[in-house]
Amino acid sequence: MHTMSRGQARIVMSGAGKRFGTLEVFRDISLEVGEREVLAVIGPSGCGKTTLLRCLDGLIPLDEGEIAVEGERVEGPRQGVAVVFQHFGLFPWKTVFDNVAYGLKLAGASRAEIQEQIPEFIRLVGLAGFEHYYPYQISGGMQQRCGLARALAVKPRVLLMDEPFGAVDAQTREILQFEMLRIWEMRPTTMVFVTHAIDEAVLMGDRVLVLKGRPSSVHEIVEVDMPRPRDRGTLLQPRFAELREHVWGTLMADARRAERELAR
Ligand SMILES: Nc1ncnc2c1ncn2[C@@H]1O[C@H](COP(=O)(O)OP(=O)(O)O)[C@@H](O)[C@H]1O
Ligand SMILES: [Mg+2]
Repeated sequence: MHTMSRGQARIVMSGAGKRFGTLEVFRDISLEVGEREVLAVIGPSGCGKTTLLRCLDGLIPLDEGEIAVEGERVEGPRQGVAVVFQHFGLFPWKTVFDNVAYGLKLAGASRAEIQEQIPEFIRLVGLAGFEHYYPYQISGGMQQRCGLARALAVKPRVLLMDEPFGAVDAQTREILQFEMLRIWEMRPTTMVFVTHAIDEAVLMGDRVLVLKGRPSSVHEIVEVDMPRPRDRGTLLQPRFAELREHVWGTLMADARRAERELAR
């Protein structure tokens, strides 16, 4: 039933492994992500979450195995895949409007198409009225909204997000999480959402991929059997607490062991 509602596989990872010189970052990751699925990825700092995302985006090659998007082996950045980075990745010399328009422009959209389409995405992320501001003139949360609008404007079929709310304050983060859920409901798409926050992983994901170990690999895939649309009420459900505690236990067993080793 779950597989049905996720739709067909849009991302297929088979035995994916990555090394930087002698450092083996991850190995043997095999997993499918459906066309309307949010896969949350969690794991300790340095376990290779960003690296995995860059491999999914085709920015860096795998050393083992294969990643296919829409049935094609990933060999470089491809159309239909957009990324939202933790540190916004905005051009400081471009206005909000021009930052949001950047991806479309790159894809060859005409001036008329841009003038017609971009306002919708600016409104969608709540930045109407700030079109002519520069990044330094708006808050971190607004900058992240801008990065999100830029990614959404190319109407991606796959959205890759790397700790997108990791650099904003706690309240803004919560607001953005629920905004993101609302936007996703309006345009459900394949999403890989990397985070180091357990509550965020459970809130956003249909499944949570827990990466662990050195090199890291798939430790567990937690099915988040909570209905959508999700909202603030989701956080209050007993099931939410159970899932969060479960993931916490999985991750913390390692952290505690590491602490004991340090204390010795
Ligand atoms: N370009 C690179 N060259 C060498 N080592 C890298 C490079 N990128 C990341 N690493 C290393 O790979 C490991 C995983 O990094 P990263 O994917 O950023 O982890 P995470 O996002 O989970 O915190 C880290 O040990 C990091 O130092
Ligand atoms: Mg990272």
